[in-house]
Amino acid sequence: MSQDTVSIKNNNTGEQAEFSLLKGTLGTPTIDIGTLNKNLGLFTYDPGFVSTASCKSNITYIDGEKGILLYRGYPIEQLAKQSSFLEVAYLLMNGELPTENKLFNFSNEINHHTILHESLSGFFSGFHYDAHPMAMMVGVVGSLSAFYHGQLNMEDPEHRRISALRMLAKMPTIAAACYQHSIGYPIVYPRRDLEYCENFLNMMFSLPSQTNAQRDKQIDPITVKALNLLFILHADHEQNASTSTVRLASSTGANPYACIAAGISALWGPSHGGANEAVLKMLMEIGTIENIPKYLKKAKDKNDPFRLMGFGHRVYKNFDPRATIIRETCHEVLAHFPTDDPLFELALALEEYALKDEYFIEKKLYPNVDFYSGIIYRALKIPENMFTVMFVIARTAGWVSHWLEMMAEPTHRISRPRQLYTGYDKRDYTPTNLRK
Ligand code: ACO
Repeated sequence: MSQDTVSIKNNNTGEQAEFSLLKGTLGTPTIDIGTLNKNLGLFTYDPGFVSTASCKSNITYIDGEKGILLYRGYPIEQLAKQSSFLEVAYLLMNGELPTENKLFNFSNEINHHTILHESLSGFFSGFHYDAHPMAMMVGVVGSLSAFYHGQLNMEDPEHRRISALRMLAKMPTIAAACYQHSIGYPIVYPRRDLEYCENFLNMMFSLPSQTNAQRDKQIDPITVKALNLLFILHADHEQNASTSTVRLASSTGANPYACIAAGISALWGPSHGGANEAVLKMLMEIGTIENIPKYLKKAKDKNDPFRLMGFGHRVYKNFDPRATIIRETCHEVLAHFPTDDPLFELALALEEYALKDEYFIEKKLYPNVDFYSGIIYRALKIPENMFTVMFVIARTAGWVSHWLEMMAEPTHRISRPRQLYTGYDKRDYTPTNLRK
């Protein structure tokens, strides 16, 4: 990393100070303003962290203008085409692609940790059948911290590695259990002989009366392939809102399972991972192709809170490379599972309308990955309220990788942003009987 400097001058006082200009391997140079307050008595104001790098990281790189996404240097297009989700998870967590032998061992370790403590399984029965699965995810993943705490030594890299593996391994089991609970079926136990995505599909869709042979038959290879792809595309996205939440919570030294639960909460919002579910809800609200112009008008109206869900991105301003890949898969999946679902046709028409609309062109609002992922999940018969849960399974790979990276740093400080205070100046307390 090479270093130059940048001068910042306070034009009101004439004071000036030099700051290091940090240059990473790729991307925008970054001013190290850590000493700004000490040198010039100033803070920076950047709501939404539009221009602020919160950490150094060597996991994922995004160039939003060029539509580039790299995991540990590998282009997402290559990984999406040639890799599996577990291989990508290994890459994110360890920095290098695994050899055949290492991948075999990693898969075995993951399989070993898929099972839930029987007492944890009991937690599901505390939720009403119609609880949102994301609410159950937050609660159950957070409660893993009650099972794994005393024996955890966060200074020990092996303890950290096992904690990360456990989270990745248990997430599909917990996710499928949320669904089985919501339809009133018993939890299906994970199987050691199935691959990660197959295992999830088996736990998700098995009926209590089925034999293993019957269950095996319903694990469709196209579905497994699509799921691997969706999980790869969603595995990491550098310092997004949920990953930053995991990092912020972890900076206090909190239990890692509780930190991941915080990430799940952040992901749930419709501006982030909740967008895939919101896209489907929006399509249902629009209803027919004839209504599209009316809803586009609403999306453009500043006085109307309606936004076109699945469009726009904080970082990607030309196209989302994940959306380009997923769009192709969307067509493959729809061809494999022919359907007369009117929402698919509506989604494709909406995409066409929006891409030709001046407002969306001018503001560089393109379909993001979640516009298509919801459509694919629907074709794969994943219920709508499970869409964001699917995102959780995939993003766990990224969250734990960032957690591992952060915890391995020799010094990490608690994250503590500053603020621009806009409240009252100091004033004196008056007793209630004297207040007007
Ligand atoms: N529909 C209509 N107008 C939009 C949309 C949209 N989906 N997205 C942005 N705009 C407009 C805004 O009104 C704003 O207009 P203005 O400049 O006239 O004020 C301008 O485009 C910029 O929007 P911001 O909200 O400032 O952009 P920001 O980078 O903060 O937000 C976000 C990005 C949250 C993704 C936004 O585009 C959005 O809400 N999209 C819909 C939700 C969505 O799909 N989220 C998933 C993101 S991908 C992910 O998390 C996996």
